[in-house]
Amino acid sequence: MNGLEKTLRVLVVDDDSAILRMLLLSLKAMACEARGVESGEAALEVMRGERFDMLLTDVRMTGMSGIELIQEAAGMHPDMLCAVMTAFASYENAVEAIKAGAFDYLPKPFSTEQLEHLIKKMATVVALRQENAKLRAKDSAASSSWFDGVTSPASVALQALVDRVAPSDATVLLTGETGSGKTELARYIHRRSNRADRPFIEVVCTAIAETLFESEVFGHVRGAFTGAIRDHAGKFEMADNGTLFLDEIGELSPAAQTKLLRFLEDQVIERVGGNRPLRLNVRILAATNRDLRKMVEEKTFREDLYYRLNVFECPVPALRERREDILPLAMRFLRAAAVKYSGNAVPGISESAMGALIAYSWPGNIRELRNVMERAVLLSSGQDIRASDLPQSLLHASAAVSNDARERICSLREMEERHIRRVLGLGVSMDRAAEILGITTVTLWRKRKELGLA
Ligand SMILES: Nc1ncnc2c1ncn2[C@@H]1O[C@H](COP(=O)(O)OP(=O)(O)OP(=O)(O)O)[C@@H](O)[C@H]1O
Ligand SMILES: [Mg+2]
Repeated sequence: MNGLEKTLRVLVVDDDSAILRMLLLSLKAMACEARGVESGEAALEVMRGERFDMLLTDVRMTGMSGIELIQEAAGMHPDMLCAVMTAFASYENAVEAIKAGAFDYLPKPFSTEQLEHLIKKMATVVALRQENAKLRAKDSAASSSWFDGVTSPASVALQALVDRVAPSDATVLLTGETGSGKTELARYIHRRSNRADRPFIEVVCTAIAETLFESEVFGHVRGAFTGAIRDHAGKFEMADNGTLFLDEIGELSPAAQTKLLRFLEDQVIERVGGNRPLRLNVRILAATNRDLRKMVEEKTFREDLYYRLNVFECPVPALRERREDILPLAMRFLRAAAVKYSGNAVPGISESAMGALIAYSWPGNIRELRNVMERAVLLSSGQDIRASDLPQSLLHASAAVSNDARERICSLREMEERHIRRVLGLGVSMDRAAEILGITTVTLWRKRKELGLA
């Protein structure tokens, strides 16, 4: 009815059993799934265990009134639509019901047409709400996207690349250091694809040429190995019409590499122990933090598979290659951690802490940043994050990095070399140059040789 995804579930409450029976019959004739009870109390009991799209209740009943029932029900199932039937066709009753949260009312006695009209109206609202909820879910998934708030040139370039390839069915290989966000980016690609409402299935590959792994991914037939007591569908089949994400693809065993290659070439797989090819419609995304090219040279990864996978390579930059993104991401993790741990009061970040965050090299990338921010929120207990709320190791490393940077600009050795070159460049005699430099001529000869200026 009215574009609903499933049958409408209606709970009907009336203490007149004849009317109740009549209502249930009419609703079933309208293809609703209807359930009837004879009191408000009984209705609440039923609602505790089951969900309904609609509640249709009489107003005047012995015990709890229909109005009271609606008020109670609103607390339990806020998105259930309620309507009342009022035997007295009393305008006051109807107004009171609407005020209590009812969507509409039926004056008793009513015709089947009137009932049908009301149900249709309510079904339309339920359908609209379902549609809205879907859109909202999509929206919030997209808004907490990989690229939220990040502005570094490396990220902007990556987004342009990813947004171009996401809607296609192309195989994508995500490469990058651990924690750089490859798995998250694979999810982003799926959400941006035409398969977004189909399954996204993740598999972490392993080197073990175990039947277990292969059967997990490709499935098996009964009797394929000891313990295979019935046919089993693998992840590939679960991902049919959707996306299969193969994480740590560099770990794939040679046998599994061969099977994957076959799929990429012919779109068919075979269950372990089976001899009937299965044709599937699956988009492959893969990720690795290993150098597959090198593995190909070392003959540990099939070259033909590498080229099939690498149709579209997406290198995910390390965090230190996009330092502009460190603070926006840190703020995002800070906000999330604050909501999680300290009830919403979002602390700021002191300048010294910011400096340390930016200077650090982040070998664990985004994952490390997230952990550091969570820890800081816990330590700062609601105050601004200070450098002392960051791990010692991070402070040491970032101090070393900034010292390094300073040395590179003005190291003594560099200064000395530059100065000697300048003086020698004046074209004066060695003795005069030594005199200007304040060293002996012998020392100047030696330094000139050391610096390769002779
Ligand atoms: N763009 C992002 N925005 C917010 N959080 C992110 C982002 N990218 C990654 N993260 C978070 O950082 C952590 C690491 O990300 P992810 O697992 O995607 O990295 P990875 O590259 O797959 O790492 P590994 O190589 O270890 O599998 C996750 O907790 C993830 O939620
Ligand atoms: Mg990962």
